[in-house]
Amino acid sequence: VPSTVTPVENLDPGQPDAIADRLAAEFTDLHGRAPLGVFTAPGRVNLIGEHVDYNGGLCLPMALPHATYAAVGRREDDTVTLRSKQSADTFAGPLESFGPGRATGWAAYAGGVLWSLAQDGWDVGGLDVVVDSRVPVGAGLSSSAALECAVAIAVAEAAGSTLDDDLRGRLVKACMRAEQDVAGAPTGGMDQTIALFGRAASALLLDCRDWSSRQVTWDPASAGLTLLVVDTRASHSLTDGGYEARRRDCETASGILGVALLRDVTDQAAALESLEDEQVRRRTRHVFTEIDRVEEAVDLLGAGDFEALGRAFTASHVSLRDDYEVSCDELDAVVEVALEHGALGARMTGGGFGGSAIALVPDERVDEVRAAVAATYDGRGWDAPAFLTAPPSPGAR
Ligand code: ADP
Ligand code: GAL
Repeated sequence: VPSTVTPVENLDPGQPDAIADRLAAEFTDLHGRAPLGVFTAPGRVNLIGEHVDYNGGLCLPMALPHATYAAVGRREDDTVTLRSKQSADTFAGPLESFGPGRATGWAAYAGGVLWSLAQDGWDVGGLDVVVDSRVPVGAGLSSSAALECAVAIAVAEAAGSTLDDDLRGRLVKACMRAEQDVAGAPTGGMDQTIALFGRAASALLLDCRDWSSRQVTWDPASAGLTLLVVDTRASHSLTDGGYEARRRDCETASGILGVALLRDVTDQAAALESLEDEQVRRRTRHVFTEIDRVEEAVDLLGAGDFEALGRAFTASHVSLRDDYEVSCDELDAVVEVALEHGALGARMTGGGFGGSAIALVPDERVDEVRAAVAATYDGRGWDAPAFLTAPPSPGAR
């Protein structure tokens, strides 16, 4: 690794209380009164179980320390105003102006969720919303879900509701509707669930067939390991067709196999044999093998076998690259370089087509992996990647 590598950015989650206090002060300056509160929801990485949520599968996401914060206050009138420190675009209008086909830009997420909650019977009323975030936007770390969930819990709090598991589940559904119907991203619900259910020191084993979940201890630090997250800086969009096309292939397969969800298939070998279309067969094979890998990963975690867990991460990447075809050159390069430099395993995380990768790296080799990835980027003439380390962190609060 050349020693001339320019220092690479390490994205800082900041101090939650300090960020919230500053945002509350800014809200007060802007609106001439204090907010009702500052509500926060985290970004996420998925450890394993990719592109299976919309197939009723299992996934294992964890909340990042990087979160989105929304300072929210009630208004006397029915207007909703939206501002974000990450965007020059501000929005003001009645709730209906944030519904399907009407909301534009980032208002589709923040305003879309208000619209969605109103559909669900919540008394949203007039609100001022001011947002700040430490989740890198568009990096495949679910800044959109973090934004939706921070706004959603603000509405619940304004209504005096207690944020128990039942309410969190309802808010997940409302956020999913905003993302699907207003923002037009046909996503599967994993991101909103981890944003609302994440807990410190845990990953969440989520069963997307019935949305049951259980916390799984995730403590790589105890084994001298770091989960390194690399934002490839390659563009990633869940609204430009690639994601939807994968969902369609899965629906084609489940239609042929006569099941509601690919998870419901019992004889997987026979099912794969009966799928004539080669592409549909490969997509389905990914879904089957990935769900198995999640079960295996949870067992390996229980046994403290991080070496084998790393191998499962890498197998997941290979399946996403070759069978599901949602990786890209940057993600493949990060995975390859991390493995060459001592990672126990590495994979793309999230929807793919760019976004972020994760690598499970011995603590003493993290700097080496970072430098090697940066050098590879430099050599290929790509924009520098960004890095963050990810102790599992609390969910929305
Ligand atoms: P990600 O992987 O980050 O969720 P998406 O493309 O799904 O990527 O969502 C990113 C979009 O979410 C942004 O283009 C913007 O519309 C919205 N968004 C996320 N965070 C913020 C923020 N802090 N302020 C304004 N908009 C945001
Ligand atoms: C996106 C999407 C999720 C999930 C994931 C792939 O992050 O929002 O619902 O499908 O891609 O596992």
